[in-house]
Amino acid sequence: MTTLSLPVLAHEIPRARKSAILGTYKRAPIQIVGGRGVELFGSDGREYLDFTSGIGVNALGYADAGIRDAIVAAAETGVLHSSNLYATEPGEQLAQRLVDSSFASSVFFCNSGAEANEGAFKFARRWARSIGGARKHEIVALRGGFHGRLFASLAATDRPEYRAPFRPLAPGISISERDLTDLENMLDSDTVAAVILEPVQGEGGVRVLDPRFLEGVRALTQEREIALIFDEVQCGLGRTGKLFAHEHSGVVPDMLTLAKPLAGGLPMGAVLLSEDIARTVQPGDHATTFGGGPFVASVALHVFDRLSDEGFLDQVEQNGAWLGERLADLAAGTPRIRAVRGVGYMWGIDVVEPAANTVARALDAGLLILSAGDYTLRLLPPLIASREELEAGLAILEGVVS
Ligand SMILES: Cc1ncc(COP(=O)(O)O)c(C=O)c1O
Repeated sequence: MTTLSLPVLAHEIPRARKSAILGTYKRAPIQIVGGRGVELFGSDGREYLDFTSGIGVNALGYADAGIRDAIVAAAETGVLHSSNLYATEPGEQLAQRLVDSSFASSVFFCNSGAEANEGAFKFARRWARSIGGARKHEIVALRGGFHGRLFASLAATDRPEYRAPFRPLAPGISISERDLTDLENMLDSDTVAAVILEPVQGEGGVRVLDPRFLEGVRALTQEREIALIFDEVQCGLGRTGKLFAHEHSGVVPDMLTLAKPLAGGLPMGAVLLSEDIARTVQPGDHATTFGGGPFVASVALHVFDRLSDEGFLDQVEQNGAWLGERLADLAAGTPRIRAVRGVGYMWGIDVVEPAANTVARALDAGLLILSAGDYTLRLLPPLIASREELEAGLAILEGVVS
């Protein structure tokens, strides 16, 4: 929230110096120096209400005492990393907690969402080869999907502007319409190893996939012996008001990928695998130097306990439903909003002007929000945001949208 008056608008603040960081990001013209709860503090002396959560990462907000204590306790063991040549207790415990909370029998830890999806592709091919030979290797993703920026995850990502400069992308990966008939035509049981989808598409505009569509995909993939991978990197771990987004539909995948909020802001990803797939993966098939180290896993254990708490999830579900109603009211009051979509603490708002313009005005007014496509705003508040804090953000949003 803005507490200090500014002599200039934030977007007019000149950059202090040219950054030595490679220019892959179009950064906002502020520098973050601290945070508490759902607020971030800028070097310009302003406080910003954060409805981005570091793009879905900071579910517990900023300066969380539990995360700090977990970090201190993990650091005091003296072992931040020991490689995957040796087992460590935090990794073992975290994997067991994920298995106990899901369909999975095993977990592979890595360091990011894209890495989790690339791992899942490899595991899918490993399993598919064991039942159908080398021809059964293709991966099918969905229109509007986003799975990362590495070569295979980019090939599964439906953003032409991200793909075009880097062709040829990894082969054997194609994109289907979000339509069962199209999928039915593409899913050849002899050649297709896996389908990957986000139960709630994030970057592609915040689209909650219809449970009947998910049921249809599950039926098709089961019938044709094709692995179904749910990418819950953005929508998983409480963001929708359930621990896993697919719980809303009751449809269970064969693999699930997680990342963003898993370790409270430290880099961590995970692939959860069904018993059938896990049993085909052998030592040496895949690896990572850092994945699942004792430091990140200790912090993730704390975060997972908090995010999987029933009372916490109920609160997100109830506040999320209320937020959806308030956004629908907002949309009803202005022709500048075309549509509102979402669930829990994950909402997309289609606007009539380029989303970047609204994002910039919100920043000037003290609210950090995201876009998801050219004409869609995206709200991903920390899951700890109270109704009062959500209301405060909505009030700023209303002013800058209309
Ligand atoms: C659904 C989804 N999958 C994968 C990724 C890639 O994650 P990362 O940036 O950690 O590689 C993202 C990132 O936004 C995502 O939203």
